[in-house]
Amino acid sequence: MSDITHTIAITRTEIRQQIRHRRQQLSTLQQQQASHDLVSQFSQHIHVQSAQHIAIYLHNDGELDTQAVINWCWQQNKHVYIPILHPFSHKQLLFTRLTPTTPLIKNKYGISEPKLDVTQVIPYLDLDLVCSPLVAFDLVGNRLGMGGGYYDRTFSQHQFVRHNQQPPYVIGLAHDCQQHDNLPIAPWDMPIKEIMTPSRTLAFN
Ligand SMILES: Nc1ncnc2c1ncn2[C@@H]1O[C@H](COP(=O)(O)OP(=O)(O)O)[C@@H](O)[C@H]1O
Ligand SMILES: [Mg+2]
Repeated sequence: MSDITHTIAITRTEIRQQIRHRRQQLSTLQQQQASHDLVSQFSQHIHVQSAQHIAIYLHNDGELDTQAVINWCWQQNKHVYIPILHPFSHKQLLFTRLTPTTPLIKNKYGISEPKLDVTQVIPYLDLDLVCSPLVAFDLVGNRLGMGGGYYDRTFSQHQFVRHNQQPPYVIGLAHDCQQHDNLPIAPWDMPIKEIMTPSRTLAFN
Protein backbone atom coordinates (compact mmCIF):
# COMPACT_ATOMS: atom_id res chain seq x y z
CA MET A 1 0.00 0.00 0.00
CA SER A 2 1.41 3.44 -0.94
CA ASP A 3 1.64 6.17 1.69
CA ILE A 4 -1.23 8.13 0.17
CA THR A 5 -3.50 5.03 -0.02
CA HIS A 6 -2.64 4.26 3.59
CA THR A 7 -3.47 7.82 4.69
CA ILE A 8 -6.82 7.71 2.87
CA ALA A 9 -7.69 4.36 4.50
CA ILE A 10 -6.99 5.79 7.97
CA THR A 11 -9.08 8.87 7.23
CA ARG A 12 -11.97 6.71 6.05
CA THR A 13 -11.80 4.65 9.26
CA GLU A 14 -11.79 7.81 11.39
CA ILE A 15 -14.76 9.30 9.53
CA ARG A 16 -16.69 6.04 9.98
CA GLN A 17 -15.99 6.01 13.73
CA GLN A 18 -16.95 9.66 14.18
CA ILE A 19 -20.20 9.46 12.24
CA ARG A 20 -21.27 6.10 13.62
CA HIS A 21 -20.80 7.52 17.12
CA ARG A 22 -22.83 10.60 16.17
CA ARG A 23 -25.81 8.59 14.93
CA GLN A 24 -25.66 6.15 17.87
CA GLN A 25 -26.07 9.17 20.17
CA LEU A 26 -29.45 10.10 18.68
CA SER A 27 -32.23 9.65 21.25
CA THR A 28 -35.16 7.28 20.79
CA LEU A 29 -37.38 10.31 20.28
CA GLN A 30 -35.08 11.74 17.60
CA GLN A 31 -35.03 8.35 15.86
CA GLN A 32 -38.82 8.13 15.96
CA GLN A 33 -39.19 11.64 14.57
CA ALA A 34 -36.65 10.90 11.82
CA SER A 35 -38.41 7.68 10.85
CA HIS A 36 -41.75 9.50 10.69
CA ASP A 37 -40.36 12.41 8.66
CA LEU A 38 -38.68 10.03 6.23
CA VAL A 39 -42.06 8.62 5.21
CA SER A 40 -43.20 12.00 3.88
CA GLN A 41 -40.01 12.41 1.79
CA PHE A 42 -40.22 8.83 0.61
CA SER A 43 -43.90 8.68 -0.28
CA GLN A 44 -43.67 11.83 -2.42
CA HIS A 45 -40.69 10.64 -4.44
CA ILE A 46 -41.38 9.99 -8.12
CA HIS A 47 -39.10 6.93 -8.34
CA VAL A 48 -40.69 5.49 -5.21
CA GLN A 49 -44.18 6.01 -6.54
CA SER A 50 -43.42 4.14 -9.77
CA ALA A 51 -41.42 1.34 -8.12
CA GLN A 52 -42.99 -2.06 -7.45
CA HIS A 53 -39.94 -4.02 -6.20
CA ILE A 54 -38.08 -2.04 -3.54
CA ALA A 55 -35.03 -3.09 -1.55
CA ILE A 56 -34.71 -1.50 1.90
CA TYR A 57 -32.60 -2.41 4.92
CA LEU A 58 -33.48 -3.25 8.53
CA HIS A 59 -31.82 -0.59 10.69
CA ASN A 60 -28.90 -1.20 12.99
CA ASP A 61 -26.14 0.84 14.66
CA GLY A 62 -28.19 4.06 14.87
CA GLU A 63 -29.10 4.00 11.18
CA LEU A 64 -32.25 5.74 10.04
CA ASP A 65 -35.15 3.50 11.10
CA THR A 66 -36.90 2.21 7.98
CA GLN A 67 -39.83 0.37 9.60
CA ALA A 68 -42.35 3.15 8.91
CA VAL A 69 -41.26 3.32 5.28
CA ILE A 70 -41.57 -0.47 4.99
CA ASN A 71 -45.09 -0.31 6.46
CA TRP A 72 -45.99 2.40 3.96
CA CYS A 73 -44.73 0.20 1.07
CA TRP A 74 -46.82 -2.73 2.30
CA GLN A 75 -49.90 -0.47 2.49
CA GLN A 76 -49.25 0.51 -1.15
CA ASN A 77 -48.95 -3.18 -2.13
CA LYS A 78 -45.31 -2.69 -3.10
CA HIS A 79 -42.95 -5.63 -2.64
CA VAL A 80 -40.20 -5.07 -0.06
CA TYR A 81 -36.85 -6.90 -0.20
CA ILE A 82 -34.07 -6.96 2.40
CA PRO A 83 -30.39 -7.75 1.79
CA ILE A 84 -29.07 -10.91 3.41
CA LEU A 85 -25.50 -12.18 3.50
CA HIS A 86 -24.97 -14.60 0.64
CA PRO A 87 -24.64 -18.13 2.08
CA PHE A 88 -21.47 -18.94 0.09
CA SER A 89 -20.40 -16.06 -2.22
CA HIS A 90 -17.87 -14.06 -0.22
CA LYS A 91 -19.10 -10.57 0.76
CA GLN A 92 -22.04 -10.66 -1.64
CA LEU A 93 -25.66 -9.79 -0.84
CA LEU A 94 -28.86 -11.57 -1.82
CA PHE A 95 -32.15 -9.69 -1.80
CA THR A 96 -35.15 -11.54 -0.38
CA ARG A 97 -38.80 -10.65 0.09
CA LEU A 98 -39.98 -9.31 3.44
CA THR A 99 -43.64 -9.61 4.43
CA PRO A 100 -45.16 -9.00 7.88
CA THR A 101 -44.82 -12.73 8.61
CA THR A 102 -41.29 -13.40 7.29
CA PRO A 103 -39.14 -15.06 9.99
CA LEU A 104 -36.05 -12.99 10.88
CA ILE A 105 -32.68 -14.13 12.16
CA LYS A 106 -29.52 -12.22 13.21
CA ASN A 107 -26.57 -12.49 10.84
CA LYS A 108 -22.90 -12.60 11.88
CA TYR A 109 -22.85 -8.79 12.25
CA GLY A 110 -25.86 -8.92 14.59
CA ILE A 111 -28.10 -7.39 11.91
CA SER A 112 -31.64 -8.74 11.46
CA GLU A 113 -32.32 -10.37 8.11
CA PRO A 114 -34.98 -12.69 6.68
CA LYS A 115 -34.20 -16.37 7.12
CA LEU A 116 -33.02 -17.63 3.72
CA ASP A 117 -35.87 -19.04 1.65
CA VAL A 118 -34.76 -19.48 -1.97
CA THR A 119 -38.31 -19.05 -3.26
CA GLN A 120 -38.26 -15.47 -1.95
CA VAL A 121 -35.02 -14.30 -3.62
CA ILE A 122 -35.21 -11.66 -6.37
CA PRO A 123 -32.40 -11.26 -8.95
CA TYR A 124 -30.72 -7.97 -8.05
CA LEU A 125 -31.25 -6.39 -11.49
CA ASP A 126 -35.00 -7.04 -11.27
CA LEU A 127 -35.30 -4.52 -8.41
CA ASP A 128 -36.75 -1.12 -9.38
CA LEU A 129 -35.33 0.80 -6.44
CA VAL A 130 -32.63 0.17 -3.83
CA CYS A 131 -32.56 2.19 -0.61
CA SER A 132 -29.08 1.69 0.74
CA PRO A 133 -27.79 2.33 4.22
CA LEU A 134 -24.51 4.23 4.55
CA VAL A 135 -22.26 5.75 7.17
CA ALA A 136 -21.39 9.05 5.45
CA PHE A 137 -22.53 10.92 2.36
CA ASP A 138 -21.31 14.10 0.70
CA LEU A 139 -23.08 16.56 -1.57
CA VAL A 140 -21.87 15.05 -4.85
CA GLY A 141 -23.15 11.48 -4.45
CA ASN A 142 -20.21 9.77 -2.77
CA ARG A 143 -21.00 7.14 -0.19
CA LEU A 144 -18.94 5.65 2.63
CA GLY A 145 -20.30 2.39 4.06
CA MET A 146 -19.41 0.34 7.12
CA GLY A 147 -16.25 -0.89 5.39
CA GLY A 148 -17.31 -4.26 3.98
CA GLY A 149 -17.82 -3.06 0.42
CA TYR A 150 -21.07 -5.05 0.15
CA TYR A 151 -23.00 -2.33 -1.66
CA ASP A 152 -20.06 -1.45 -3.95
CA ARG A 153 -20.06 -5.09 -5.09
CA THR A 154 -23.84 -5.03 -5.47
CA PHE A 155 -23.91 -1.80 -7.50
CA SER A 156 -21.08 -3.01 -9.75
CA GLN A 157 -23.67 -5.44 -11.20
CA HIS A 158 -25.21 -2.44 -13.00
CA GLN A 159 -22.68 -3.06 -15.78
CA PHE A 160 -24.53 -6.28 -16.63
CA VAL A 161 -27.90 -4.63 -17.23
CA ARG A 162 -29.53 -5.61 -20.54
CA HIS A 163 -30.09 -3.05 -23.33
CA ASN A 164 -33.83 -2.67 -22.76
CA GLN A 165 -33.55 -2.63 -18.97
CA GLN A 166 -32.88 0.10 -16.42
CA PRO A 167 -30.57 -0.69 -13.49
CA PRO A 168 -32.14 -0.35 -10.04
CA TYR A 169 -32.38 3.30 -9.00
CA VAL A 170 -30.21 3.84 -5.92
CA ILE A 171 -31.15 6.17 -3.09
CA GLY A 172 -29.02 6.38 0.06
CA LEU A 173 -30.97 6.86 3.30
CA ALA A 174 -29.30 8.69 6.17
CA HIS A 175 -29.75 11.08 9.07
CA ASP A 176 -28.78 14.68 8.28
CA CYS A 177 -25.90 14.35 10.78
CA GLN A 178 -24.24 11.77 8.49
CA GLN A 179 -23.22 14.41 5.96
CA HIS A 180 -19.44 14.76 5.62
CA ASP A 181 -18.14 17.03 2.88
CA ASN A 182 -15.21 15.99 0.64
CA LEU A 183 -15.29 12.29 1.47
CA PRO A 184 -12.04 10.52 0.60
CA ILE A 185 -13.15 8.18 -2.15
CA ALA A 186 -11.58 4.93 -3.34
CA PRO A 187 -11.54 3.76 -6.99
CA TRP A 188 -14.06 0.97 -6.29
CA ASP A 189 -16.60 3.20 -4.48
CA MET A 190 -19.86 3.33 -6.40
CA PRO A 191 -21.69 6.68 -6.27
CA ILE A 192 -25.41 6.94 -5.56
CA LYS A 193 -28.09 8.81 -7.53
CA GLU A 194 -29.76 10.47 -4.59
CA ILE A 195 -29.61 10.96 -0.86
CA MET A 196 -32.77 11.08 1.22
CA THR A 197 -32.73 12.34 4.78
CA PRO A 198 -35.70 13.10 7.06
CA SER A 199 -35.51 16.76 5.95
CA ARG A 200 -34.50 16.69 2.28
CA THR A 201 -33.83 14.76 -0.89
CA LEU A 202 -30.72 15.58 -2.95
CA ALA A 203 -30.32 14.31 -6.51
CA PHE A 204 -26.94 14.03 -8.23
CA ASN A 205 -26.14 13.71 -11.93
N1 LIG B 1 -16.73 -4.46 -6.80
C1 LIG B 1 -15.88 -4.96 -5.90
N2 LIG B 1 -15.27 -6.15 -6.11
C2 LIG B 1 -14.43 -6.66 -5.21
N3 LIG B 1 -14.09 -6.04 -4.06
C3 LIG B 1 -14.63 -4.86 -3.79
C4 LIG B 1 -15.55 -4.25 -4.70
N4 LIG B 1 -15.94 -3.08 -4.16
C5 LIG B 1 -15.29 -2.95 -2.98
N5 LIG B 1 -14.51 -4.01 -2.76
C6 LIG B 1 -13.63 -4.22 -1.60
O1 LIG B 1 -14.38 -4.07 -0.41
C7 LIG B 1 -13.55 -3.50 0.60
C8 LIG B 1 -14.31 -2.47 1.39
O2 LIG B 1 -14.74 -1.43 0.54
P1 LIG B 1 -15.04 0.00 1.13
O3 LIG B 1 -15.41 0.89 0.00
O4 LIG B 1 -13.88 0.45 1.98
O5 LIG B 1 -16.26 -0.29 2.11
P2 LIG B 1 -17.67 0.48 2.19
O6 LIG B 1 -18.13 0.78 0.78
O7 LIG B 1 -18.51 -0.50 2.92
O8 LIG B 1 -17.40 1.73 2.94
C9 LIG B 1 -12.33 -2.92 -0.10
O9 LIG B 1 -11.22 -3.64 0.34
C10 LIG B 1 -12.57 -3.14 -1.57
O10 LIG B 1 -11.41 -3.58 -2.24
MG1 LIG C 1 -17.12 1.81 -0.66
